[in-house]
Amino acid sequence: MPTSVTTTLFLLASLSLAAFAAPARHVRPAGHAPAPAQPRAIYIITNDQTNSVVALPVAADGTLSTGTVTATGGQGSNSVDGSNQPAAPDALDAQSSLTLVGNNIFAVNAGSNTLSMLSFPAQDPTQLTLVGQPVPVSGQFPNTVAASAKNKLVCVGTTGAENGVSCSTFSPRGLGQMDALRSFGLNQTTPPVGPLNTVSQLFFSEDESRLFATIKGDPAVNNTGFFSVFSVQQAQPQQPHAGNGKGKRKAKAPCAASLATQDIRSSPSGTAVLFGSQNIPGTSSSVFVTDASFGAAVLAVDPATNLASLVGKQAIDGQKATCWSTISPATGSAFVTDVLVDRVVEMSLTDATILSTIDLSSNGDPGMIDLAAAGNFIYALSPGNGTTAPAVTVLDVSGGQGSAKQIQHFQLDAMGVDKNAVGLVVF
Ligand SMILES: *[C@@H]1O[C@H](CO)[C@@H](O)[C@H](O)[C@H]1NC(C)=O
Ligand SMILES: *[C@@H]1O[C@H](CO)[C@@H](O)[C@H](O)[C@H]1NC(C)=O
Ligand SMILES: *[C@@H]1O[C@H](CO)[C@@H](O)[C@H](O)[C@H]1NC(C)=O
Repeated sequence: MPTSVTTTLFLLASLSLAAFAAPARHVRPAGHAPAPAQPRAIYIITNDQTNSVVALPVAADGTLSTGTVTATGGQGSNSVDGSNQPAAPDALDAQSSLTLVGNNIFAVNAGSNTLSMLSFPAQDPTQLTLVGQPVPVSGQFPNTVAASAKNKLVCVGTTGAENGVSCSTFSPRGLGQMDALRSFGLNQTTPPVGPLNTVSQLFFSEDESRLFATIKGDPAVNNTGFFSVFSVQQAQPQQPHAGNGKGKRKAKAPCAASLATQDIRSSPSGTAVLFGSQNIPGTSSSVFVTDASFGAAVLAVDPATNLASLVGKQAIDGQKATCWSTISPATGSAFVTDVLVDRVVEMSLTDATILSTIDLSSNGDPGMIDLAAAGNFIYALSPGNGTTAPAVTVLDVSGGQGSAKQIQHFQLDAMGVDKNAVGLVVF
């Protein structure tokens, strides 16, 4: 991240710290969730010229080992930082640059403006196969992707000169054509100058009835970020075709879903640079979200109006760019990373209060980006910075809130991964 942006974020952090005077609130006790499923593999994209999905197997004790590298058929890219240099780490300014639904992986190719679909057999989750060919997306510089199993819909966020959302259907045969761009109207270039004033993340609501998007503002030019909500529309069942022959073609999944062409936007008070988000499990419309300008927040998305409002926010002392988040089923809490500070901060799902801080500075990473929780573990990616090697830190959270501890620091350079790497999902 460029110094100017870092400085801006620092200033914002100081401002919001001064404004944040609320006393610490009570911590929601851990629930009685069923035993979390054991993770079996994690996936990252290299985001290099030859973009590839890296799949690493997870052992029973949660640790990683060397896996496979499968080309997506597309090219990666880098946003541009304030010094006009290719940005890395944090090459795409996004969370969810790849996503996983069932045994399918969807990965963005920011440099070739396409989306790839890959799949794997459930019994062998690191054996990936490209399904069909990458399809062109609408707009430039795709950096985030969301998929809905229920609606067989995959939507991509682009954040270049033409930016917004486009979607297509998917099936075991691959991706359909992407539909027309729903523009966010950001004044950007291709590649974009980030991280401010870019699309952060697309994700479906827990019930998959809505697509949510977070968009970063640029407080220095009075450009406020926003939270965008698109409804999923269910098509009317098709009438049988005339002369089709009775019973010849049984109704074959005629109800294709699509995304509304218009979104509802809101800027929850006290937020400016909304970034990595997760639905809070068991709530129909509460979202945990980082804000790179101060820390993280809990938002409520009104099911009737689709407007997002602030429930609670928490500044993180000493933060530089708190951008990525995950929610652990084992702890019932959120974990956030900062690309410039080598630590993970655990926060409450009620109001974002800080529950614990896990200092990882002894592992030598400059900071971390995407992370994902599954079972009793959390996997967090540090792409490195060209000097330090890319690595995934594995945290054991089996002891519940406040228990997170590093059990492995697995370096990825031997697999050809470098500082351009982004995204992390777990199967
Ligand atoms: C878009 O950004 C460019 C570069 O910062 C600036 O010169 C231009 O005035 C902006 N256009 C609008 C419509 O804001
Ligand atoms: C931002 O808006 C405030 C309030 O309207 C104004 O005082 C300030 O000059 C604006 N800053 C910029 C950089 O446009
Ligand atoms: C990379 O990160 C390490 C660890 O924080 C730091 O010591 C080193 O100066 C960084 N190198 C560059 C090129 O930024």
